[in-house]
Amino acid sequence: MPVLRKNWLRLAVHLGALVPLVVLVRDYFLHHLTFNPIQEATQRTGKTALILLILSLVCSPANRIFGFKQSVSARRPLGLYAFFYASIHVFIFFVLDYGLVYDDIIQAVTEKPYVIAGLSAFLLLAPLALTSTRGWMRRLGKRWKKLHQLVYLAAPVVILHFVWSVKADIRQPLLYGVAVALLLVLRLPRVRAALPKLRSRRALERSETVSRSAPPVADS
Ligand code: HEM
Repeated sequence: MPVLRKNWLRLAVHLGALVPLVVLVRDYFLHHLTFNPIQEATQRTGKTALILLILSLVCSPANRIFGFKQSVSARRPLGLYAFFYASIHVFIFFVLDYGLVYDDIIQAVTEKPYVIAGLSAFLLLAPLALTSTRGWMRRLGKRWKKLHQLVYLAAPVVILHFVWSVKADIRQPLLYGVAVALLLVLRLPRVRAALPKLRSRRALERSETVSRSAPPVADS
């Protein structure tokens, strides 16, 4: 089916991104969310949001380095799903964990650095999700791209939030931090400019290998 062949990645993104939610709801009803379900749900939704955010940052370099054009069409749904999970994460924290108690929320927001970082990341991501439509793209023109570069700030802030939220072992947040740092390095103008050259060199090497391994054509 040509439609499926053209859109398989987008379809995979939609299906794959909904799996953690389905598993979360299933585990809630089966009482599989550990002895502290709110904390477990907060951690799972936060982690999923971060992974989807990182995957959304992978799309452009995947196209530039490997010529994987379809990845560009997956960027928007990945970013939106990242924000979707971040919203559930924030909802669980404010509504289920803090019961919307104003004083407690204000105290958490002003006293806990990881909450300040999380809130900052959320506020940075919100305008990107809200203006992700084609209509907003048209309305904002060149400013749309500038606005959406906020993701390059939001991602490290999420890493900071992760590092500050864990009590002892920071190996995992650091690992995610390395992934984010690498993806941001690929956006530096010099590195960005070098990527298409790298791609054409790879293509040249590949064609040389193919022609070397091809059997010689017999002279007639
Ligand atoms: C108002 C904003 C936010 C609040 C109040 C908040 C709250 C929290 C809390 C309480 C935890 C720690 C759970 C625990 O270990 O006990 C946490 C962890 C985490 N949050 Fe957030 N968060 C916010 C925004 C975000 C955003 C925007 C993202 C990602 C896009 C995010 C990603 C994460 C990640 C990756 C973790 C670590 C999960 C783990 O330990 O496995 N958070 N957050």
